[in-house]
Amino acid sequence: MKILIVGSGGREHAIAMAVAKSPKAEKIYCAPGNAGIAQIAECVPIGAMEFDKLTAFALEQSVDLVVVGMDDPLCGGIVDVMEAAGLRVFGPKKAAAILEGSKAFSKDLMKKYQIPTAEYETFTDADAALSYLATAKYPIVLKADGLALGKGVLICNTLEEAKNGVREIMLDKKFGDAGNTLVVEEFMTGREVSVLTFVDGRTVAVMTSAQDHKRAKDGDQGLNTGGMGTFSPSPFYTEAIDAVCREKIYQPTVDAMRAEGREYKGVIFFGLMLTEDGPKVLEYNARFGDPEAQVVLPRMKTDIIDVFTACIDGTLDAVQLEFEDNAAVCVVLASDGYPVSYEKGFPITGLEKFDNDEYFCFHAGTAKKDGKIVTNGGRVLGVTAKGSDLKDARKKAYLAAEWVDFANKYMRHDIGKAIDEA
Ligand code: AMP
Ligand code: GLY
Repeated sequence: MKILIVGSGGREHAIAMAVAKSPKAEKIYCAPGNAGIAQIAECVPIGAMEFDKLTAFALEQSVDLVVVGMDDPLCGGIVDVMEAAGLRVFGPKKAAAILEGSKAFSKDLMKKYQIPTAEYETFTDADAALSYLATAKYPIVLKADGLALGKGVLICNTLEEAKNGVREIMLDKKFGDAGNTLVVEEFMTGREVSVLTFVDGRTVAVMTSAQDHKRAKDGDQGLNTGGMGTFSPSPFYTEAIDAVCREKIYQPTVDAMRAEGREYKGVIFFGLMLTEDGPKVLEYNARFGDPEAQVVLPRMKTDIIDVFTACIDGTLDAVQLEFEDNAAVCVVLASDGYPVSYEKGFPITGLEKFDNDEYFCFHAGTAKKDGKIVTNGGRVLGVTAKGSDLKDARKKAYLAAEWVDFANKYMRHDIGKAIDEA
């Protein structure tokens, strides 16, 4: 089979590596890809939002399967465009990707179908939001409705902070049109867990769990980022919690989308908080997590092409999803200054040591310049190691993180610290 992967980050590198493991993969293309993906796929210089060009390329090359890694093209309707041209595409159509694309939509869906989540109110008028906030309980959470690179969420401890937040999101439009509608949400406490699932419209196949570290600095300090590291599985996501989630969250979400005429095929990423009152949904994403994919996919035993195909065909109930009985930790190597401002273009050394068996180096922001691989983004690499258990994997991931070097290299040193509390 010929496969085209759409995207350019560490997640897409992890998807490409999983696809490359399948005996069914004859040729892998990635658009636009990066310097690491280029080692296992042919990178094509077409942007992820250039739907017509991507479609024309896939038709020209007789691509058998397209896999879309990123949220922007999914929410923009790439699957609709490509399917209309006769291509087979793994991912939700626009009407279903709204699960991630609009927080107001997903909150209303959860309310209507009684899926556990935080209490909330939605506003399209800043004055109405402000008068609500004047009498609300603090801390409180403000969320821009639309896609905002994971940065459109503000946790406000006081009315003053909330007023500033409303101004930023609704009036200054810090996140553009994503802030036309504001969701104001009850603040929840508990441990967070990311659960990725494959969905074929009806059946949900649950992958192994993971936990992300969203803040830039050790001790969960500093600004929110796309994710500074992950571990899998989460020791806090027990079998009992999994059973509750399947019954009260996963299946009801898929059934709700079908009932709404928005049949969902692809990955649903459930961002959960394990509260005292049980697991609740923090957010839905319409794609693999980044860097969750970098710890989940290396542990997957099932042929990923079979799973993608089953999701498209609606035959996921016949697939046995299996994961290795081990653990993985991913430490993101970033450019110092991320997520605000940072320099790029520095040569990277030490990449040859990874065996892609126990040790993986997923490229996120890299490029090739004068024959050398150089830094080309805020998150540069995701160093993943597998181990017999979480502690072993963590030790190995931090060891491997030292193999690699580049100017202004920055990482968190406490990825997986929570393991010690399990
Ligand atoms: P989201 O993009 O919705 O996952 O939000 C980003 C982060 O904000 C989450 O990973 C949580 O750490 C935090 N967060 C979001 N919603 C809430 C909430 N209702 N209560 C507490 N923390 C939240
Ligand atoms: N790591 C969180 C996300 O992919 O949204």
